[in-house]
Amino acid sequence: MTQLDIDWVRAQFPAFSQPSLQGQAFFENAGGSYTCQQVIDRLFRFYTERKVQPYAPYEASRLGGEEMDEARARLAAMLGVETDELSFGPSTTQNTYVLAQAFRQYLDEGDAIVVTNQDHEANSGPWRRLADEGIEVREWQIDPETGHLDPAALAPLMADGKVRLVCFPHCSNVVGEVNDVAGICAQAKTAGAYTCVDGVSYAPHGFEDVGALGADIYLFSAYKTYGPHQGIMVIRRTLGEELPNQGHYFNGGSLYKRFTPAGPDHAQVAASAGMADYMEALSAHHGGPVSGAGAARFAHELMREQEVSLLEPLLAYLSSKNSLRLIGSASPTGRAPTVAVSLDRPGEAVAAELAAHGIMAGGGDFYAVRPLGAMGVDLERGVLRMSFTHYTHHGEIQQLIAALDKVI
Ligand SMILES: Cc1ncc(COP(=O)(O)O)c(C=O)c1O
Repeated sequence: MTQLDIDWVRAQFPAFSQPSLQGQAFFENAGGSYTCQQVIDRLFRFYTERKVQPYAPYEASRLGGEEMDEARARLAAMLGVETDELSFGPSTTQNTYVLAQAFRQYLDEGDAIVVTNQDHEANSGPWRRLADEGIEVREWQIDPETGHLDPAALAPLMADGKVRLVCFPHCSNVVGEVNDVAGICAQAKTAGAYTCVDGVSYAPHGFEDVGALGADIYLFSAYKTYGPHQGIMVIRRTLGEELPNQGHYFNGGSLYKRFTPAGPDHAQVAASAGMADYMEALSAHHGGPVSGAGAARFAHELMREQEVSLLEPLLAYLSSKNSLRLIGSASPTGRAPTVAVSLDRPGEAVAAELAAHGIMAGGGDFYAVRPLGAMGVDLERGVLRMSFTHYTHHGEIQQLIAALDKVI
């Protein structure tokens, strides 16, 4: 596999050349990533040239509407789904909230759903509230030592045939381990259950073929994936047409409008096409396919390889320290570059100390209260989280290690 041209990659992100950010190594990417130039250009163009109500017959409006459609079509193609199976909402949390309302109407008393205690609250709380409507909520629990979500433990939860939906993360925003989404979705399907996968922590590390994964719902947040502040939601047709429409009654015939009751943020939807531009440019620059799903897969491989090589020294360093507990696996393969550690003092305080050394990292619970609690982490202290992506430099990992050496 071609090696990632890191200088080219960083040139696509204006933040890296901002004078105010020089010397600052960014390790809070799981909170929100830097935005690529392609997205910024489209956002600027929309606001300056096309900021009118879209889909009207005059030129500026027609172009605006076309660009919004382009974003859905190109991102859907990269994710291996039909264009109208992809929709935008204000955030992943709001998207799951709307979906949970739809399931509230769809499920019958006595039906059951499965949620995990590995998820961020966004893919947990809204589903758990269905218990108020007589839906049985079953918790698929992580291993309290490793944070691992064992697929073998799912089967007994579904054995009585009552489970209609299984909600789980592609990867947790504190444990980092990449779950076997395809295997879990196949297991759920065999048991007659739909699946809702939170891909927020995984998507910044590569767009997966959601069609091949077999998820019925796949969610992620564009603002953590080099794009604008939008939640992106794939709902496969069979489920989307079966669930009751949550939008205006006269829009119920459009699959992509059924679970987005708010009017869309036109400019941000349009600018999301810049994420596809970036993935394609990344692939093409490295000799891969120039467009579509092929480019997305090639970019994914490039990104993962770089991230694994960046994870190696950091995980080796953290594993050698007795003064901290590494959350999740110490092996760089099979995990996202989202690395949390618990320490003898609040993660936020350590993050503040690191800031003095030019490290931008975060501390707290990251709304992963359930997994951290299940792993016995003191929630008052929370964790220090160091999260990065393919655009992170090896030099920045060394800067982080040197800073950690001073503060822990
Ligand atoms: C794994 C995970 N899921 C869901 C969310 C919520 O996403 P949003 O901010 O788009 O609601 C987050 C945000 O941090 C997250 O990390």
